[in-house]
Amino acid sequence: MRHHGKQIVITAVLLFAASMAMQGQEENWTTIRNGIEWTDTEGYIVQAHGGNFLEHGGRWYLIGEDRSRSWNPDVNLYSTADFQTWKFEGKIIKNHVTHEELGRSRMIERPKLMYNEKTGKFVVWCHWEARNYSASEAAVFESDSVAGPYECVWAGRPCETKSRDCNIFVDNDGQAYFISTTDENTNLGLFRLSDDYHSAISKTLLFEGQRREAPAIVHIGDTYYMISSACTGWDPNQAKIATSASIDTGWSALENIGDRIAFDTQASSILTIKGTEATAYIYVGDRWMDPDLPRSKIIMLPISFEDGKMVLRYYDSWQIDLKRGLVRTP
Ligand code: DGJ
Repeated sequence: MRHHGKQIVITAVLLFAASMAMQGQEENWTTIRNGIEWTDTEGYIVQAHGGNFLEHGGRWYLIGEDRSRSWNPDVNLYSTADFQTWKFEGKIIKNHVTHEELGRSRMIERPKLMYNEKTGKFVVWCHWEARNYSASEAAVFESDSVAGPYECVWAGRPCETKSRDCNIFVDNDGQAYFISTTDENTNLGLFRLSDDYHSAISKTLLFEGQRREAPAIVHIGDTYYMISSACTGWDPNQAKIATSASIDTGWSALENIGDRIAFDTQASSILTIKGTEATAYIYVGDRWMDPDLPRSKIIMLPISFEDGKMVLRYYDSWQIDLKRGLVRTP
């Protein structure tokens, strides 16, 4: 009897494997390990903090701050096909070179990369700051190709608003937004961008007086989700989640997500991986290692939904099938 049961299981597994092979959907699990430094194909530590991912031409591009000298980061770009092998594509925005003030009176934080379908250009929005955070400005860079060269299009206060920690969000219809912590870290400003993504054309204040930063938005089905943090410098704090049916109005109250220090991270972006069987949503956060900022880590965690609510759990290691969009946790 027991022998019979075993045979049924083996047959089922073989049938499943055969049907997967017939559909061309062979399993291919990639292991994501958290808490370690990533190295690029030349053996150097991947320095790409506070950034985001852009999928383009079958590769994922990772933009972020090069914190190897702690302050005045250049902006690095890497690419990968498997989230294991990281090819350094270059310093796409360079101190003193891309802009003469950069590395002198200005520094960049939280560079975010997007592709504009209408213009065919790659556009970077970032926090454009003075050493004591007194400038409270943003900057925009653009290039014909993903790896540069990038040129500065504009720098200043979006809609004349003091603007610090920031992110971008591109909706399903291509409408792009810049979202930043405004008015001395008091509000979140949601700025609708012009069709060419060069300028902020209107502003809506969200979570007024609630002092949020590190906003990261994703649009799933009919719902917008926003993860954000409190403003505690480089120290981690409780991440919160809010939802809305509309991007510029009707946001729910903030609710806790993850543990009380966001698993020692601060959100940098939410990565969407569309597979043949499912879409995976991944929280990408910075584990800032202040005062040893060069050793900051990039942490990736799978987002799940339970009873309609977004849930974030910590895993030292977990797996993703990039083709099928499936996630496997321990
Ligand atoms: C938190 C922000 O999210 C970072 O980008 C950086 O500005 C630090 N604060 C500086 O304390």
